[in-house]
Amino acid sequence: MTSSKVLSGLDTAATVYESFNDRIKVLSTKGVVPGLCVVLVGEDPASQIYVRTKSKKLKSLGLVSETIRLDADVTEQKLLSIIEDLNANSKFHGILVQMPLPKHINSQNVINSINPTKDVDGFHPENVGWLSIGKPRFIPCTPKGIMRIFSHYNIDLTGKDIVVIGRSNIVGRPMSILVSSNNANGTCTVCHSRTKNINDYSRNADIIISAIGVPNFLTSEMIKEDSIIIDVGINRIDSDNEKGYKIVGDADYDSVFDKVSKITPVPGGVGPMTIAMLVENTIEAAENIQL
Ligand code: GUN
Repeated sequence: MTSSKVLSGLDTAATVYESFNDRIKVLSTKGVVPGLCVVLVGEDPASQIYVRTKSKKLKSLGLVSETIRLDADVTEQKLLSIIEDLNANSKFHGILVQMPLPKHINSQNVINSINPTKDVDGFHPENVGWLSIGKPRFIPCTPKGIMRIFSHYNIDLTGKDIVVIGRSNIVGRPMSILVSSNNANGTCTVCHSRTKNINDYSRNADIIISAIGVPNFLTSEMIKEDSIIIDVGINRIDSDNEKGYKIVGDADYDSVFDKVSKITPVPGGVGPMTIAMLVENTIEAAENIQL
């Protein structure tokens, strides 16, 4: 039985996908099929899985999805020239370069080269700027998905003390902007690897959003009774099951479960919402094209 404590990303995503049907139909009457091109550099196993999952989902909705796979030693110049072609290719409304990139490539140069109107990740400085002044164009998919979980479960952030753990450009930083925005009205503290004592903050938080990628980091001693935990971690740890590993979040789920009022599971929490929001941003990018 699904506990009422569990904030299901799968259930939320199912509702979100239903809302796409009409939008996809309207576009198709104009002869537009939303299209995404994903660029994957190298062989990182986690990235391979993410990219495959994204592509499968888009195709299942009848959208265009293509993946360009490049060797880990591809030059930055070659990657930039591929993006230049994708910018000019009207079949693709969205371009996503899977992160992280190999060390010899300057990720910021790559992000900067994506046409900001096709930047469905919301990573381009122009889109980061729009978000930070409260007029978002593309909102990064994971933070956007988390906001959608809050609204799906009628969780009002107004006046809530929210601790975001992690300050990445992909999750923590945009998350902190969204929860403290004029729409959400939360009070946000960002903790990170140099925070002196995370417990001092986490123990006073109404809501903790953890995005650090450390398995079982958040334990019951670190949280307040009846707090809400949003677990962004997707961590692979050894297991004696047939696969030899299992996926766990940043929270020690069994340790915190009795104490929290709500929690996102891993898997089945934030992950499916990231993909749903990528689909949404791709549809949005297609809608933004003036025909
Ligand atoms: N790597 C981990 N999450 C993401 C994401 O949302 N977008 C991209 N491009 N790379 C990622």
